[in-house]
Amino acid sequence: MQTIKYTFQPHGDDRGQLVALEEYNDIPFRIKRVYYMYDTIPNVVRGKHAHKRLEQILVCVSGSCKIRLDNGKEKKIVALEKPYEGLYVSHDMWREMYDFSKNAVLMVFASEVYDEDDYIRDYDEFLSYVKEKR
Ligand code: TYD
Repeated sequence: MQTIKYTFQPHGDDRGQLVALEEYNDIPFRIKRVYYMYDTIPNVVRGKHAHKRLEQILVCVSGSCKIRLDNGKEKKIVALEKPYEGLYVSHDMWREMYDFSKNAVLMVFASEVYDEDDYIRDYDEFLSYVKEKR
């Protein structure tokens, strides 16, 4: 399974680092929503869902975490450890976020506004959904 990890351009100078993300340039879709997770309790697993339409870029802007991706056939684990790295997560992809370090902040750039109807939260339902689409 192919995963797409972006390396964004840090604009560093003697004052520190800065990353700028623009829709259609650095982020391959129109950004309709940004949200972030912080104060994540150790050993917790977040996500555990797929989306029917929504695409995302995940950036661990502080600390680190791991993302388990599952397209219904194959699984892959990706570590996010740098504030200038972004992981693309397509629709029809089961995702779990875990192994959050202390002070981890996981920022998500999403192609859609929040819509509970776009979620598949049951794993067996997800497997049937992707199987039917193939
Ligand atoms: P949840 O979907 O459980 O987070 P995750 O699956 O990424 O671990 O979301 C937690 C709560 O936040 C839930 O009550 C829904 C709400 N929420 C919003 O109101 N807007 C949003 O954009 C998101 C992602 C969640």
